[in-house]
Amino acid sequence: MRLLSIETSCDETALSIVEVTGEPGTPSFRILANIVRSQIEMHREFGGVFPTVAKREHAKNLPPIFVECLKQAEMFSVRGPTSTPRGRTSDDVIRTLLERESDMAEEILNIADEIERPAFDAIAVTTGPGLEPALWVGINFAKALSMMWDIPVMPVNHMEGHALSILVDAGTDAQEIQLPQFAFPALALLISGGHTELVLMRDFLSYEKLGATRDDAVGEAFDKVARLLGLPYPGGPEISRLARDGAARPDIVLPRPMLHSGDYDFSFSGIKTAVLYLLKNFPQLDEQTRCDICREFEIAVTEVLVKKTLRAIEEFGVRTLIVAGGVAGNSFIRSEFEKALVGHDIVSKFPTRDLATDNSLMIAIAGYFSIANKKDFPPLESIRADSNWSL
Ligand code: KG4
Ligand code: ZN
Repeated sequence: MRLLSIETSCDETALSIVEVTGEPGTPSFRILANIVRSQIEMHREFGGVFPTVAKREHAKNLPPIFVECLKQAEMFSVRGPTSTPRGRTSDDVIRTLLERESDMAEEILNIADEIERPAFDAIAVTTGPGLEPALWVGINFAKALSMMWDIPVMPVNHMEGHALSILVDAGTDAQEIQLPQFAFPALALLISGGHTELVLMRDFLSYEKLGATRDDAVGEAFDKVARLLGLPYPGGPEISRLARDGAARPDIVLPRPMLHSGDYDFSFSGIKTAVLYLLKNFPQLDEQTRCDICREFEIAVTEVLVKKTLRAIEEFGVRTLIVAGGVAGNSFIRSEFEKALVGHDIVSKFPTRDLATDNSLMIAIAGYFSIANKKDFPPLESIRADSNWSL
């Protein structure tokens, strides 16, 4: 099965082409193309992601990245005089579908005039959760390809993608990848810029949300605290870098919100406010104090994440721990989890660094599992952006 996957839920435009062979229980993936174009530089100017800017950039990026992927996958085949006509859908139908992305419509139509129908069996596209305008661009792009070439579309949940991102290693480009066997129940701690969730998985595609953040997501807290400290977007990697030079100090102590709340929910907006108040004590913020605050912030957040996750591991007899999402790229968080799990009979899995942040390989994997589990392809017109789609 050849799959095209599309991810545009936030500030990365990502497309991949994968070929899946083998039985549903033991599939092998070959990565034929995989491109992630980050908009971080663009959003850095604003100190965060602006949905309308993200949408515009996705619309500009998708057609050229699509062509690049086809070429990487050796699926770019120029039409000849004997080629069969493109399909039933007229140009005007595509233009109407993409009326809000008219430049993208023309580019797609030009591509379709130029090449043979690529041999995709399905398209997997992120439909939520995420920024609604950004999601719509990817969805409409998928729909246009689907209509032009008669390819079914499978909607994919972005968080399911993050959870399954630990199954692949993008570093093994274009090689055969066997999915590792997996002991259930698994627990997924999903930590990104938009989400913080603890999800119990009794099997593939079977999710039970144990808890979530009641306010800011972890990544959002990193980004906001970074901003308070005068650090650029995205804040996670910056804080983590400065934290390495930080030291413990009695005058820099932050709360551990909801550590003993007895449930699996989180709250990170209080920590951010605590940093704001703490900063009032340091009107001239020197470089060392900034590092010390970063260190205390990273430790406070990590302690809450680790302790709550451990409690869920014990309560539910978890055998595999997955920590995924952009924040899972944080080395301190990884090493604290590894330390905490010593002595537990549990396998812990983190995505490779490339696959911790948003990418489309994880969308291909999640799409494949939906298709392999015989989930129906929904009618095209029913596929919509769902910015709050919960697992
Ligand atoms: O998963 P992701 O790429 O996008 C969303 O779906 O949100 O996550 C992005 C988030 C940002 O908030 C960023 O600051 C955070 O992940 N992040 C990190 C690190 N790398 C990225 N947070 C802490 N430490 C890191 N090393
Ligand atoms: Zn994400």
